[in-house]
Amino acid sequence: MNEDTLIDESLQKLYSPSDFRNIGHQLVDVLADHLDQVQSQREQAVLKYQNPEEELAYWKEDMSSDTDIIDVYKDILERSIHVHHPRYMGHQVAVPSIISSLSGLVTDLLSNGTGVYEMGMASNALERIVTDFVAKKIGYGSDASGFLTSGGTLANLTALLAARKAKAPGMVWEEGHKEKLAVLVSEEAHYCIDRAARILGFGAEGIIKIPSNKSYKIDTSLLEEYLENAQRKGLVVIAVVGCASSTSTGSYDDLEALATFAKDNNLWFHIDGAHGGGVVFSEKYKYLAKGIDKADSVVIDFHKMLLTPALNTALIFKNSEDSYKTFEQKAQYLWDSQQSREWYNSGKRTFECTKLMMSLKVYSIIKMHGKDIFEKNINRLYDLGKAFAAIIKEREGFELLIDPEANIVNFRYTDVSSDVINSLNSQIREELILSGKFYIVQTMIGEDRYLRTSIMNPLTEESDFIALLDEIQKIAFRFK
Ligand SMILES: Cc1ncc(COP(=O)(O)O)c(C=O)c1O
Repeated sequence: MNEDTLIDESLQKLYSPSDFRNIGHQLVDVLADHLDQVQSQREQAVLKYQNPEEELAYWKEDMSSDTDIIDVYKDILERSIHVHHPRYMGHQVAVPSIISSLSGLVTDLLSNGTGVYEMGMASNALERIVTDFVAKKIGYGSDASGFLTSGGTLANLTALLAARKAKAPGMVWEEGHKEKLAVLVSEEAHYCIDRAARILGFGAEGIIKIPSNKSYKIDTSLLEEYLENAQRKGLVVIAVVGCASSTSTGSYDDLEALATFAKDNNLWFHIDGAHGGGVVFSEKYKYLAKGIDKADSVVIDFHKMLLTPALNTALIFKNSEDSYKTFEQKAQYLWDSQQSREWYNSGKRTFECTKLMMSLKVYSIIKMHGKDIFEKNINRLYDLGKAFAAIIKEREGFELLIDPEANIVNFRYTDVSSDVINSLNSQIREELILSGKFYIVQTMIGEDRYLRTSIMNPLTEESDFIALLDEIQKIAFRFK
């Protein structure tokens, strides 16, 4: 026996089925208790805020102690934000359905790379089923197809790469671009669009921000003027990007108007539906995204409105062919030819090489809860947004920014002299976070600070909104 090839016991233990069973059972119990508590006991904190240095110190000490791993998990729960809490109304992160989270255990155990077929047979097949389903809901025809990728940011960048391939003059992939390329987008677009344009080398001039109207939608009456100005400056505009919806206010751009403008000017039409694209599943709310089927590419995050853990994003193309042209590279060790159109080798079309096995997290939801579950969730969250807005309007001392189209509701406390409204609202948010009773965020709208809520949890109820406003009022009385 060669001493050098004897496996160390601790390496063997890494893969012990009995440890998996034992720790797994305990962990599931801990997580189920956690879910039970945060969902049913409103007085449980949404977040027990610690400052970063204290948090770091805590974990440094833990690192050098011999805490049992189950206690570590309990500590992690204690020291994390709880999106399952009905009073979590902060950033746009889905409250993951349990079946999707459990699927995460399966996919993390299997760790199928998914970029190539053999490294994710089931995964690639499920991805095809799931993305075809989304394409159909968008209203695309049989030429459409897409894939899943890690997040809206990456998906938007990938779509703009496809736009560049389709619309920029010359052989950009081989030679770089000689022209100054540009995209048109609302000033309300998520910052990742700006970032994508700059990553593509368009520079600050190449991200042309069109002012929005009083509903925070792109002002479509300005499109021609901005395009002509750009062309006069020598820019080659390749794409127009629509928001469905915007991040700050949840406003949907006029997608029909953008589609017509794109067609008339031979531009790629991309829609960032990372947040609100999920309305394609809803009979009640799909009118908000009317025209989405005319886009060349659409991004929809499952991990925002569609019940999966982060990250899980669909990028769908009206013409499948466009998605295969984006990356024209050889990767001999993965596949023989970049020219062949193999849906099952998803690495040909995504930025990623090793890719998470995301599809099961969507598929399992459909399998267990039915195809209309996304519709139910969208309807519930958008209805709750409207209900919250109505409550704010009724309440003295509060001001609603706009009637929300989506589940994003902005408001502020105004029963104080105008020069301190901003500072008081900042203070209110800080106090709320420190109290742990609610989690909301804030945003600047022009010069004004607003409290911003995204209603992400279908278990949130109208009484939670009333409790939030009561709490804000109490804080305001203390500080004004
Ligand atoms: C409209 C919009 N687009 C893109 C993104 C970025 O998506 P992700 O966080 O999945 O990268 C966000 C995130 O909030 C968003 O609201």
